Amino acid sequence: MAEPAAFWNRIAAKYAASPISDEAAYARKLELTRARLRPDMEVLEFGCGTGGTARHHAPHVKHYRATDFSAEMIAIAKGRGPVPENLSFEVAEFDRMELAPGSLDMVLGLSILHLLPDPNATIAKAFRALKPGGYLVTSTACLGRIWPLKLLAPLGQKIGRLPQLAYFTEDELRAKMTGAGFAIEEDWQPKARAALFLIAKKPH
Ligand SMILES: C[S@@+](CC[C@H](N)C(=O)[O-])C[C@H]1O[C@@H](n2cnc3c(N)ncnc32)[C@H](O)[C@@H]1O
Repeated sequence: MAEPAAFWNRIAAKYAASPISDEAAYARKLELTRARLRPDMEVLEFGCGTGGTARHHAPHVKHYRATDFSAEMIAIAKGRGPVPENLSFEVAEFDRMELAPGSLDMVLGLSILHLLPDPNATIAKAFRALKPGGYLVTSTACLGRIWPLKLLAPLGQKIGRLPQLAYFTEDELRAKMTGAGFAIEEDWQPKARAALFLIAKKPH
């Protein structure tokens, strides 16, 4: 497949124009996250897309660093109105970012873990970068049981219609979190097959 960011650059404008599929679920995820935000927090979001969640949470923390490896997504995110001083949008691939150990209060990865080549490495990296008591907030499509997708994806990827995908079930994702050392504090799946929303805490 071509470079993974190329897929997202190509569909960025269409992605930006598409409505949120379940507004009520999105609102609840924002609320559950918001309940843990404090004005002294250093927050990093990876795979921020067009930046809606970042703009929502940034006013409630000290600094919010919103990153995505798609330059087109970041351009749209920046163009959606004035960017507050404590919010930065950056083109960056999470796995290649240098993050000081124990430097962050919260890491968010929404609709992205299933798109990464090595979700375990990403979860472990977030764990290292978080302070004790810090949170990893994720919302993830768990594709482990969707066999037709698994079979057809290579073709879709070859013709550029699908991004790279990682396959795991809900329980496997929970095990990845606890295996990395996190304690799961919030575990919510709005309906069967919907994205699994987890707030995982790095113990003190
Ligand atoms: C399905 S979109 C989700 C965007 C946003 N988080 C949301 O919930 O609407 C996935 C995003 O992750 C980005 N992405 C995928 N793989 C990435 C990687 N390895 N590093 C950084 N961003 C990545 C894509 O460019 C895209 O913007």
